Amino acid sequence: MAIEVPALTPVEESSYLTLCGRALDSRSPRSILRDTLADEVAVKVGQDPAKFPMAASSMRDVALRAKKLDGVVREFVAAHPDAVVLDLGVGLDNRAFRVDTPSTVDWYEVDLPGVAAVRRQVVPARPNVHTIAADLADEHWIDQVPSDRPAVVVADGLVAFLGQDDLVGLLNRLISHFPGGDIAFNGYTRFHVWAIKRYKGAASIADLVINPGFDDPHAPEQWAPGLHLREEIFLTRAPEIATYPLAIRLFTRFAALSEGFSRRGTTVLHYTF
Ligand SMILES: C[S@@+](CC[C@H](N)C(=O)[O-])C[C@H]1O[C@@H](n2cnc3c(N)ncnc32)[C@H](O)[C@@H]1O
Repeated sequence: MAIEVPALTPVEESSYLTLCGRALDSRSPRSILRDTLADEVAVKVGQDPAKFPMAASSMRDVALRAKKLDGVVREFVAAHPDAVVLDLGVGLDNRAFRVDTPSTVDWYEVDLPGVAAVRRQVVPARPNVHTIAADLADEHWIDQVPSDRPAVVVADGLVAFLGQDDLVGLLNRLISHFPGGDIAFNGYTRFHVWAIKRYKGAASIADLVINPGFDDPHAPEQWAPGLHLREEIFLTRAPEIATYPLAIRLFTRFAALSEGFSRRGTTVLHYTF
């Protein structure tokens, strides 16, 4: 049953976009992520994913990048069972349920106050999962997170909403807070930012995207010394492409031949520090 959702700001409402993408994907016979909890959460916040204006290609992208980020967390936690997980700009995502980490892991989810309040009502609680209501541009929210354990930090669909100075400040704060770890997020190139501002399907977020985007995946190494690019994951080369409809599959396979073309699609950038 739907809850009474408090008014969210336009930036906070962007969490519906990705939530509904995963909900729609879960309904597809060729589902990539099979996140049925996303569908339940969407209904609880009064969103009808079927009526959501999202192209099938965007839905697949949202599901696939979430799956790759889940994989980064899973791999890190397997190697560091005492890890801290940070999901920044978590929205109404259920990553903690999908990854299902052991009780030795502490998981912190951060989002703006409106989203954090809704999240507490609609996403089931889990032991060792903590929600922090904060603006990531602030310096002090990180004081609530243990600083003596290795950390894996993911940010799915967040970076475009951060100004460049805030992004650089955030990366540096993360690196200096933890003894070491991994950071992964989906990249936004300057082409993506240009496309978001012109694509009708992204009209609801066009004015909210304030990051200029960056084309060189090594650029964050300059902004935050200590950060090293470990892997640039091209979704065009993911095995899941085999499940895409024929025409899209052929086009994606063609794009996969070139890094430049692949960067026009979604990439997941994975760094260590
Ligand atoms: C496109 S949504 C993605 C949400 C979620 N990661 C997902 O995949 O469903 C972007 C999220 O970033 C959050 N966000 C944007 N700017 C933020 C900031 N300065 N501090 C904290 N959260 C922010 C928004 O509230 C929203 O929940």
